[in-house]
Amino acid sequence: MASSAVLNADLRKGLIHKEIYGHFSEHLGRGIYEGIWVGEDSPIPNTKGIRNDVLKALQRIKIPVLRWPGGCFADDYHWEDGIGPRETRKRMINKLWGGAIENNHFGTHEFMMLCELLGCDAYINGNVGSGTVREMSEWVEYLTFGGESPMSSMRAANGQAEPWTVKYWGVGNENWGCGGNMRPEYYADLYRQYQTYVRNYGENKIHRIACGPNGNDYGWMEVLMREASSFMDSITLHYYTILGPNWENKGDATGFNTDEWFTTLEQALHMDELITRHSAIMDQYDPDKRIGLIVDEWGTWYNSEPGSMPGYLYQQNSIRDALVAGVTLNIFHQHNDRVRMANIAQMVNVLQALILTEGERMLLTPTYHVFDMFKVHQDAERVEFTFESEAYRHNGRDIPAVSASASVDQEGAIHISLCNLNHADDSDLTIDLRGIDERSEGLSVSGTILAAAEIDAHNTFEHPDQVVPQPFNAFVLEGSKLKVQLPPMSVTVLEIKQQ
Ligand code: AHR
Repeated sequence: MASSAVLNADLRKGLIHKEIYGHFSEHLGRGIYEGIWVGEDSPIPNTKGIRNDVLKALQRIKIPVLRWPGGCFADDYHWEDGIGPRETRKRMINKLWGGAIENNHFGTHEFMMLCELLGCDAYINGNVGSGTVREMSEWVEYLTFGGESPMSSMRAANGQAEPWTVKYWGVGNENWGCGGNMRPEYYADLYRQYQTYVRNYGENKIHRIACGPNGNDYGWMEVLMREASSFMDSITLHYYTILGPNWENKGDATGFNTDEWFTTLEQALHMDELITRHSAIMDQYDPDKRIGLIVDEWGTWYNSEPGSMPGYLYQQNSIRDALVAGVTLNIFHQHNDRVRMANIAQMVNVLQALILTEGERMLLTPTYHVFDMFKVHQDAERVEFTFESEAYRHNGRDIPAVSASASVDQEGAIHISLCNLNHADDSDLTIDLRGIDERSEGLSVSGTILAAAEIDAHNTFEHPDQVVPQPFNAFVLEGSKLKVQLPPMSVTVLEIKQQ
């Protein structure tokens, strides 16, 4: 079986916002403590308390934006607990996630320092569920007000005289669930109230983000858009790829069978329908697409690793996760008119992590490698890529075997990202390259692939290089036809350049 595609390089489809490659770090398990923050006195080499190995790996993939401090933790977090001398900060129990000790050593100053070291924008998620309007308003003032005020004086006394730039502000998280179990009508009113006090000070202009729906809760989207759209810059969507059969048994991250492989990818592809249908509702209230859809929690959620702390959500990450990342990022590209940001859950040691750590050891997961390979799409222009994929059939069910998207960067290089979802068969794809004028003869094509021989191939601390990108050359350019042979279970990025 074969698939065919047409790439129209001169048909531009708008920017692929680099924020689609955003990240999320919550006070959950070892996501921040151990995973990022080890403290200045740690034997693990660090920069002002942030571990150097993780920092270097994250810098490489050009993180555009980082969301913090939650998740559900956001609506339980009181920011004043996390400022001032670290030794006097409150020690408490993280009631939400595994009863871990939260010593508040990673707070506002540490987060802003991390963003500076990563060169990324800050996305702070404020507390609506258990916080007050005043608390949120004062946090914004503490962070961004440059004049004289109690909050700016307190910030200066804590070592930061200059205000920071904070670009993104979330007004609550999952307020339909852990963030207060609210009805959409009630939250819409609270959203309108709280966001009023998320003020712009000086040059700092905050992008205000409303809490959007869980998965297919179209009713929540409808009410929020109807009641509060004129007060928001973006609204969120949360969707996790969960295998089931239920929350008590979500399937394992490794050691799964081909049915589970197929179902996981089928679930991941559901993101397309969710974005399409939520966008259709948004279009009714916002036909000019002023408001962004921010998918600020997405990724796989399996049973935690045997022996890991319950509630820490620590899971391995295999070539299957790489496929989930690849198809999801391709879906976000296709919806670049509405999807302005996305934040995979989560960056280190939690859920579909890019990085896992154990003591002083660190490994890069297959998902990390996909983010590294796909970073060429950040802020590139999407180009039209139409294709007909052969079907991937399994036990009487069908999904497309190939997922793809393409963009052109500022230097004119074209990048095509291709996933072959099929666990057993190659996929032969012929791409008709159009709109690249008569230059085809002078084109150079190169590629990188992430593939594996086992459906649950993954990296371990003992063998960290089991699944790593390799040069790819299973293609031939015949005139304007690029013929590519995609191995099973693979993620490939092709680069087409003029020589
Ligand atoms: O990412 C883990 C949790 O999943 C987040 O805290 C919450 O927002 C979601 O339910």
